[in-house]
Amino acid sequence: MKGLILSGGKGTRLRPLTYTSAKQLVPVANKPVLFYGIEALAGAGIRDIGIVVQQPTIELGDTRSEIVAAVGDGSKWGVRVEYIDQDAPRGIAHAVQISEPFIDGGPFVVYLGDNLLTKSIVPFVAEFERLRPAAQILLARVPDPQRFGVAELQDGRVVRLEEKPREPKSDLALVGVYLFGPEIFESVKRIKPSRRDELEITDAIQDLIDRGLPVRPHIVEGWWKDTGKLEDMLEANRIVLETIQPRIDGDVDDASRVEGRVVIEAGARVERSVVRGPVIIGARARIVRSYIGPFTSIMNDVEIRESELEHSIVLEGSVITDIATRIEDSLIGKHVRIYREPVKPSAYRFVLGDKSEVGIRW
Ligand code: G1P
Repeated sequence: MKGLILSGGKGTRLRPLTYTSAKQLVPVANKPVLFYGIEALAGAGIRDIGIVVQQPTIELGDTRSEIVAAVGDGSKWGVRVEYIDQDAPRGIAHAVQISEPFIDGGPFVVYLGDNLLTKSIVPFVAEFERLRPAAQILLARVPDPQRFGVAELQDGRVVRLEEKPREPKSDLALVGVYLFGPEIFESVKRIKPSRRDELEITDAIQDLIDRGLPVRPHIVEGWWKDTGKLEDMLEANRIVLETIQPRIDGDVDDASRVEGRVVIEAGARVERSVVRGPVIIGARARIVRSYIGPFTSIMNDVEIRESELEHSIVLEGSVITDIATRIEDSLIGKHVRIYREPVKPSAYRFVLGDKSEVGIRW
């Protein structure tokens, strides 16, 4: 069985980070979301993985080379990775269509590169191989089904699927992991673009049902997240941090306190600070006279001085100094500088990229 990971898309809900970076590379507990997907497929014994990437455009930038640089040939995970170019974000079903030569006839898994699951996909794959339906879909109960593809079941069978319905018929959302036999390629050819002008995989699976082919549902136990927007990203970070194995490879001075589930990578240094887990602090980061509170991920080469931070993600190379008020619920990009200057008149001074967001709580 082969695997197909989708790693294109516009990432509009995570701007401005996604102006310069692929959403699939935003880290959760200091590891790109995409890597969790590769690990899930490798863990299910899949050795050949196609990653669908976006051809560079002025509007969407070049996420392709960033993904290629991060993943390489897949040997880190013991898999073979091939890249498949999609000319524009034309939908998941379109990505499946252009991957037909790579798939080459056998059954395959489609894994959306921004999805994160805590449970293994091994039983899901085993069930598919045993029963060999035309498709097997993963479903999860969600409070906001209108944001997803939604399935309607009758007596345990899938009877209807609808992409982002205004009035959902159930609370069962389609998780971004699908198993297909080659029958899907015919369905992908038969469907038309949706309201958002994409070829929807949801419509292609509905076409399988309309053709009388078996589509099996499998309800996800445990937890699943589509990390497309900030709140989901922070929640994913929180849940993964709760499972990390505490480890201190960096230096912590005697005037600091490290409490709970904390990872401090080699070369990082914590001075006169309090770190209250779950927290991960990346390699060569510097934390000085600061408080790092629960559910915070700090990437490599970040510097935090005289500041307080909680429930946030800070990407590599950023510097935060002398911020008197605690920073919370934040996603801070790479090489960002947030600082206080002792000059008058006092004022806020911002240099913010397009679609940045600054919230001042008081
Ligand atoms: C896509 C699918 C949707 C599915 C979701 C899961 O939505 O179209 O059916 O529920 O992924 O993450 P998108 O992320 O393209 O809005």
